[in-house]
Amino acid sequence: MTLKISVVGTGYLGATHAACMAELGFEVIGLDIDQAKIDSLALGELPFHEPGLPELLRKHVATGRLRFTTDYDQVADWADVHFVGVGTPQRADGHGADLRFVDAAVRELARRIRGEALIVGKSTVPVGTARRLTSLIEAEAQPDSRIMLAWNPEFLREGFAVADTMSPDRLVIGTQDTESVDILRKVYAKALAADTPLIVTDFETAELVKVAANAFLATKISFINSFAEVTETIGGDITTLADALGHDVRIGRKFLNAGVGFGGGCLPKDIRALQARVSELGLTHTMGFLAEVDEINLRRRERVVRLTHAMLNDDLVGKKIAVLGVTFKPDSDDVRDSPALDIAVRLYNAGAEVTVYDPKGNKNAAARFPRLDYAPGLAEAVGGADVVLLLTEWAEFRQLAPGDLDPLVASRRIIDGRNVLDRAVWEADGWEIIGMGQHYAPLDAQP
Ligand code: UDX
Repeated sequence: MTLKISVVGTGYLGATHAACMAELGFEVIGLDIDQAKIDSLALGELPFHEPGLPELLRKHVATGRLRFTTDYDQVADWADVHFVGVGTPQRADGHGADLRFVDAAVRELARRIRGEALIVGKSTVPVGTARRLTSLIEAEAQPDSRIMLAWNPEFLREGFAVADTMSPDRLVIGTQDTESVDILRKVYAKALAADTPLIVTDFETAELVKVAANAFLATKISFINSFAEVTETIGGDITTLADALGHDVRIGRKFLNAGVGFGGGCLPKDIRALQARVSELGLTHTMGFLAEVDEINLRRRERVVRLTHAMLNDDLVGKKIAVLGVTFKPDSDDVRDSPALDIAVRLYNAGAEVTVYDPKGNKNAAARFPRLDYAPGLAEAVGGADVVLLLTEWAEFRQLAPGDLDPLVASRRIIDGRNVLDRAVWEADGWEIIGMGQHYAPLDAQP
């Protein structure tokens, strides 16, 4: 008998997981408490940008293998495996993760399940959550039910969500029983290559793998950005340094791109939640370095603001600034904790006229900061700019040549916040161009 699957929470993670489970051949129901989201998904419309996902969604809404509901009774009655992929946002007080949605989802399921079922947590949670949820399940469960719990963290990246789900680097399952592992092996059978590592472990390790991975990635980015601060002061080339470091296979080149720093819905929130959790455990100093990682990261934004001031002789009032890219990374429409958007708003607050253009992010950014100007295309954004800021490395911007902008930008000033332009080519064309990690005499002390 084929397993029937529910996915509770149809945000980024849940919608991707539901569509991919249908693609793997299962019958799937996605559940969310947000009726508007469910209505749109049921019509095959994805409320966010993710390459390849709309096609999967439409395909399986059409085959009938993928349905959507807001009704817990329906899924609790029907599914054998319930994936929980609801959000764990930063708490309003800034300390730790808000687990309201995870608790509510597990409680609503546990109350209604009859017979046997497996609940699989996918959300990123503070260590200790799964063990606590076993007590919650016990307290809420019907006498005639048998509910198992497993923790199966999700490592997908925005922009690659489908590929990361359909062929993961590794699968981590935290559990207290072997039956859940057998069930999850069946669920993922077609997604696992012969050599995909399957790591079966306890709840705590499974929860920690996820936050440790994100803490490591964040640390790697801030590590190279801390060296960018050094080369900004004394000179040197941060990209060559990263390339040379990356040739050491123990280090690797990935996540060593200096720039405006990391943002998005995961890395910043997860390192803060991890610090809060270890403090609760009485280990405040153990993760003290993550506070530095966060600070180095936020200083990158400040750096771009200061560079802009310096390039415009400290007079931003009425100056036209074109911001290219506003999402936290390319191939996404996500502006959560986006360094680019933060920089744009700071420059606006300093009196500049800021015009933003992003291939996919204008709408989400405008919803948050309607006062900035949003241009429909690159030419409209940069026309007459006193300075152009490239802040998110969309392919469209990486490919820019000075000749593309020459007729539009008489000032010929550009800040490359992602180090993706060939500085020598732009300088040869008469541009003043500054990248990240670059010494800039008007701003930095002479060595
Ligand atoms: C991240 C993790 O990679 C993923 O495994 C996890 O499941 C969720 O969080 P994502 O938020 O999609 O995924 O973004 P990622 O590709 O990791 O990039 C995060 C941020 O780091 C972006 O703002 C990006 O621009 C920045 N970054 C990345 C750098 O500044 N330099 C780099 O070298 C790499």
